[in-house]
Amino acid sequence: MTVLAIASPKGGVGKTTIALNLAFALSGRGHRTLLVDLDPQGSIGLSLAGRPKDAPGLYETLRDGRDAFGHIIQTRRRELSLLTFGQPDMGDLAPWTRDVESDGRLLRLLGHLDAEYDLVVVDTPAGCGGLTREGLEGSTHVLSPLQTDPLALRALPQLVATVGSLRAEGAPIELIGVVLTMTRFREALAANVAQEAWALLPEDLVTDTHIPYDRVFAEASAKGVPVGLMRRRPPPAAAVFDHLAQEIEPKLGILPAEEDDEPIHLVD
Ligand SMILES: Nc1ncnc2c1ncn2[C@@H]1O[C@H](COP(=O)(O)OP(=O)(O)OP(=O)(O)O)[C@@H](O)[C@H]1O
Ligand SMILES: [Mg+2]
Repeated sequence: MTVLAIASPKGGVGKTTIALNLAFALSGRGHRTLLVDLDPQGSIGLSLAGRPKDAPGLYETLRDGRDAFGHIIQTRRRELSLLTFGQPDMGDLAPWTRDVESDGRLLRLLGHLDAEYDLVVVDTPAGCGGLTREGLEGSTHVLSPLQTDPLALRALPQLVATVGSLRAEGAPIELIGVVLTMTRFREALAANVAQEAWALLPEDLVTDTHIPYDRVFAEASAKGVPVGLMRRRPPPAAAVFDHLAQEIEPKLGILPAEEDDEPIHLVD
């Protein structure tokens, strides 16, 4: 069972951007991937053009106790499916959240979904409590974006403590990486935060891949696509996610689909 949560104590640090583009990259490497949106903001659905914006999803599945497969959206890429957050009734969201946090229905759902996919990627709401904690309890791995901003580094211990307390309660969750995001190493302050992260955190925790600051992410959301689908020749930012996918595969215990490594002859 491989359920990868993308989580961070801070908001607006790139969790949804990573969840969407990493799920896309992992599916491109042959892993049957389900991207689940656990954030009532519904940002995964809002980041994509077409049906995901107003389709039912996780909210309706957990509310009605129905089979999630009725709400899972199969994308045009065979290996990538989506379970968006859905269309919450705002008056009902608080009791829904309390129920989900207390009765284990999300954990059961994640366990059930996982059997159908090689990998489930969960985009979580900012913070470490409530729905995020519940999502982490149902996950096996967590990857955390760290924006190169001094406050982000100060908030990271909250996530480390949450993962520690869940493990102490018997949850199988493991923090597999911290990804520097929105990096602008030419700016002294951002470079200092990166230096501090490298100095403070265990060497193998900070991923070699970092996500540079790039306007292309906003353009991709405006178009409603992962960066890898922006144009026929994907922008360099798409390759960053391929690297990240490749880097975390061993930590997730998944191997890339068997590839034919023979050269392709240009002409018969
Ligand atoms: N590497 C990047 N370079 C430039 N802009 C980025 C980058 N990553 C994310 N963004 C932009 O930053 C904003 C916040 O990103 P995102 O929604 O992924 O963060 P989040 O952590 O999921 O936020 P929330 O806590 O609200 O869920 C978005 O407008 C997104 O397009
Ligand atoms: Mg988000």
